Amino acid sequence: MNARELFKSAKAAMGRAYAPYSRFPVGAALRTETGAVHAGCNIENASYPEGWCAETTALGHMIMAGGGKVAEIAVVAEKMPKIMPCGGCRQRLSEFVTADAKLHLCDLDGVVETVPFSAVFPRAFGLEANR
Ligand code: THU
Repeated sequence: MNARELFKSAKAAMGRAYAPYSRFPVGAALRTETGAVHAGCNIENASYPEGWCAETTALGHMIMAGGGKVAEIAVVAEKMPKIMPCGGCRQRLSEFVTADAKLHLCDLDGVVETVPFSAVFPRAFGLEANR
């Protein structure tokens, strides 16, 4: 799957967002190094802090499908071109990314910019035993 296909998965996932409080739908899709694709949307809650991000939903799908290493991630938000994963999601993603994982920043038409994940989350906290 190429970056455009990953973008399409993220955009489709955004269509499932449950974001009645922020009205800020987000979609994310990740590809593992074995080629599996897992997508997710943000899921909010009336108790606002209990909601979570699209990237986190996608990671949950990956783990439930058997896990893996994340080679590429695409994120898209209806109201924000080139949305960046929040700090918490960067930490969650960092647990599973390959050393050369790519992050695709998107607008509603497709991938606008691709950056190394390591560039947006340098010097991550991690326990050596997990690496
Ligand atoms: N959100 C995501 O899903 N991913 C991000 O990277 C940033 C923020 C969601 C959380 C919340 O549901 C809404 O966007 C507004 O913050």
